[in-house]
This record gives sequence, C-alpha cells and structure tokens, in this order.
Amino acid sequence: MTPPPWYREAKHKAPRLCENQTYPYNFRMGEFCPGSLDRFLKRHAASGSTLWEPFAGHTSLNQTIDICAGFGVRLVAHDISPIDERVVQADSTRVGPGLPINGVIFHPPYYGAGCVFSDQEGELSSEEDLDSYLAAINRCIDRVDEVMEEGYIYLVARTYPVKGKSFSLDWVLTNEFLSRGYEFEEALCDTPDWIVYLSKSA
Ligand SMILES: C[S@@+](CC[C@H](N)C(=O)[O-])C[C@H]1O[C@@H](n2cnc3c(N)ncnc32)[C@H](O)[C@@H]1O
Repeated sequence: MTPPPWYREAKHKAPRLCENQTYPYNFRMGEFCPGSLDRFLKRHAASGSTLWEPFAGHTSLNQTIDICAGFGVRLVAHDISPIDERVVQADSTRVGPGLPINGVIFHPPYYGAGCVFSDQEGELSSEEDLDSYLAAINRCIDRVDEVMEEGYIYLVARTYPVKGKSFSLDWVLTNEFLSRGYEFEEALCDTPDWIVYLSKSA
C-alpha cells in the first residue's frame, strides 16, 4: 500500500517531540506522549472547553486528566471497562458524550495486535474481524459528529502487522476524518504511534 501524500509529507517534517520532552511516560505501557497533548491543547483548547475521550482507560488517564486540568479543560472520559469513578463505563460506539464538545482525544484499542483489554461485550480489540472493527470505530466517529459542529481531534494510531500484513490504522483513521470534512493540521511521530491533529470548522 502506498502512503497517502499527507503522510509522506508529515514523515519528513514530523517533530519527534517525545525524544526531548519533559513529561515522564512509558510508551511500552500504551501511554502516548503527554508533551504532544500539551502542545495540542496550547494550540486549540480554550479554558472552559470540553473534550471527550471515548477510549480513556487503562494507562494514560492520570496524565490526561492533569494536562487537561492545567488548561482549564473539562474531560468527559468513557471506557467500556470499569476503570474508576472518573470514567463513565460505556460503549463509545453506541453512547456519545451527551453534551456538546469542542474536541476529542481519540486513542482507540487496536484490532489484532495481541492486546485485548477486557472481556466486556463490545470491546473493540476483540471484534470478529478487521471490517467489523472498522465499522465499530466509524460508529464512534458518528457519535463525535453528532455533538461536535466545530472542534479538533487528537488522534493516536499506528501502522502494525495484522495477520502478517501491514495495516495502517493511522492512515485509515486520518482518511476517515478527512472524508468527513476535517482538515489535517499536523502529525507528530511518537514511535511506534503517530499523533495526528485534525480540525473541523462549522
Ligand atoms: C488504547 S487503550 C486506552 C487509551 C488510553 N489513552 C490509555 O493510554 O490508557 C483503548 C481503551 O479502549 C477501551 N475500549 C475498547 N472498546 C471500547 C468501546 N467499545 N467503548 C469504549 N471503550 C472501549 C479499552 O478498554 C481500553 O481501555
């Protein structure tokens, strides 16, 4: 598969923030680079705005809450697993945030990557096949579109092998947002993940 032009461009220009940023994090544990969230919120988040994180557990939650709080941003956190009292237990492909939002932290579970988060019904990493996984992810993006007329997306995804073939969830999801009228803003390399900023105008 040939990478789309925006991805090839981004690859040359992508700041590798995580090599010299000051927040501690452990990408091996599935955390994303907090410096990139800080950079994103500096650019986009007005104090008093609301972000939805539809896949908010299991590892980066404390950092995400702290960083959002530092910007005066309210975080509505959902996860299908019971996490703690700060997270609403919900299937984010079916239940949206229930209020207007200004942005989304979109860090979905990966299908076929050997990591299943729980045995909850609706857990995306254990979908039957890639097509049903992608259909479910698209339903979650529908939930975003229902409540966000204008706003921004902070997407974390990677290219990784599924059943021996390279699968580019990073391009697939970015292209899905682009096809829904979002604009590509920036991509940061957080090896092996890519962090992609997108925005949507009214
Ligand atoms: C990549 S992980 C978590 C991302 C989070 N930023 C972190 O680093 O902890 C994906 C999360 O999605 C949750 N999840 C899976 N299927 C879901 C669904 N249908 N609705 C809501 N959460 C789901 C899993 O329980 C898991 O906590």
